[in-house]
Amino acid sequence: MTRHFLALHDYGKAELDGLLVLANDLKGKQKQGVPHRLLDGKTVALIFEKSSTRTRVSFEVGVFQLGGHGLFMSSGTSQMGRGEPIRDTARVMARYCDGVMIRTFGQEIVDEFARHSSVPVINGLTDLFHPCQIMADLQTVIEQKGSYAGKRFAWVGDGNNMANTWIEAAAILGFDLALACPQGYEPDAGVLEWANAMAPGRITLTNDPEAAVKDADVLNTDVWASMGQEAEQKEREQAFRGYCLDDALVALARPDCIVMHCLPAHRGEEISDSVIEGKNSVVWDEAENRLHIQKAIMATLIK
Ligand code: CP
Ligand code: NVA
Repeated sequence: MTRHFLALHDYGKAELDGLLVLANDLKGKQKQGVPHRLLDGKTVALIFEKSSTRTRVSFEVGVFQLGGHGLFMSSGTSQMGRGEPIRDTARVMARYCDGVMIRTFGQEIVDEFARHSSVPVINGLTDLFHPCQIMADLQTVIEQKGSYAGKRFAWVGDGNNMANTWIEAAAILGFDLALACPQGYEPDAGVLEWANAMAPGRITLTNDPEAAVKDADVLNTDVWASMGQEAEQKEREQAFRGYCLDDALVALARPDCIVMHCLPAHRGEEISDSVIEGKNSVVWDEAENRLHIQKAIMATLIK
């Protein structure tokens, strides 16, 4: 059976840990110039129905470093944008390519794509999940803190795709996660229910950012309006007042805490300029690790 990477909940702790170890190994090889052509001669299609900087570049460069070819496709310039059914696109792509990464809107689109694909499909972000990003974030936490085990994670802001994926990670890997989200902007109820059943007591939800960040080791935030929610920007600016990860909030966390943001960031909204540029920020390492973890995911899935 073809294995896909659509959501963390399809994976167990040992498998996710294995990917993180491989990512670290591949990072070392790349830094030392040691060849690691694990996708020699393979082609991976990279389909984007939303904008991207990091995901596009890190996948394209990553496939190249593995000896393969990354093929960029946007919905606007392909028949997908003209309504060709997902299942038809999936079956055709699998006749040409050895793997597919797709960034799109509903999670049901990647699920449908994968159901009809005989080659591995990787979720490069949906409205519900961003699993490659959280894996890169975990690699960064391990580099900075030695391990994710026993660390306190905090999320401040929108209960969006990033928050949902952190919730899954906390439940599968077993760490404490406190989320502060404004009322009406909570994470996905189904994801929370699944995670609470799997790891009772690990995940807490509050409307108080100060309570969430208190004594945390890892602070995380993201934009108030995600891709596709641009029309809600003004209304969200009102709802998210007090949810800016600024120096005052960071001061409540552990002095050696790390601050993460998947980027792109809106300085002065969800994070202050002084925090993202400050001594606790690891956002550039976090962005770099997209490259390494995605290479590990592709090299593991694509045969
Ligand atoms: N963090 C992230 O996925 O960035 P892009 O939207 O630039 O790909
Ligand atoms: N939550 C953001 C993440 C961007 C990488 C979005 O979906 O737009």
